[in-house]
Amino acid sequence: LKVAVLISGRGSNLQSLIDACATPGFPAEIVLVLSNKADAYGLVRAQEAGIATKAISHKAYPDRESFDAALHDEIVAAGAQLVCLAGFMRLLTPGFVAKWHDRMINIHPSLLPAFKGLHSHERAIAAGCRFTGCTVHFVRAEMDDGPIIAQAAVPILPGDSADDLSARVLMAEHRCYPLALRLVAEGKAMVDGEIVRIADSAA
Ligand code: GRF
Repeated sequence: LKVAVLISGRGSNLQSLIDACATPGFPAEIVLVLSNKADAYGLVRAQEAGIATKAISHKAYPDRESFDAALHDEIVAAGAQLVCLAGFMRLLTPGFVAKWHDRMINIHPSLLPAFKGLHSHERAIAAGCRFTGCTVHFVRAEMDDGPIIAQAAVPILPGDSADDLSARVLMAEHRCYPLALRLVAEGKAMVDGEIVRIADSAA
């Protein structure tokens, strides 16, 4: 399966996908890494892996619709069949999301549907949660919403700062995203009434 990855920054989740795709027999290939920020470190990671990159600044477009149309055109031109959001910090328009319905996935650093949006680690600590984690899900128009493909739970330890917790969750993210991509690429994560059913691996 040909995949485009959209990023805005560091790209450590992108790196986990690059590494997974480089393992023998992995069912996906990254054909394009797109960033809305030209200085995103993830673009360097992609270049070092020999993957095509493109920076498209949202500031060069008058509105979200025209920016998203430019993104869509690049993704289609690259031949991508699936979009992976990996720390992409722009809200996508309902029109763009509709074009990639069940063909776009995102990773979020909480156990959704808890703690959508920014600062999820601070909020999980402030709420006194004993566990948080990460979620990979199909993207719907509402932020951090959509059918859940994979999750990993991570303990919140006494005295954890948001940075401590973020580092612990990030390690789980780097396992979860490649796992979810594999399931989707193998056609084993099927959306059924806004719930994902995971096909039997023996089937
Ligand atoms: C990750 O925590 C991801 O879950 C969130 O943004 C962060 C991106 O980190 N959506 P990186 O750029 O992949 O290192």
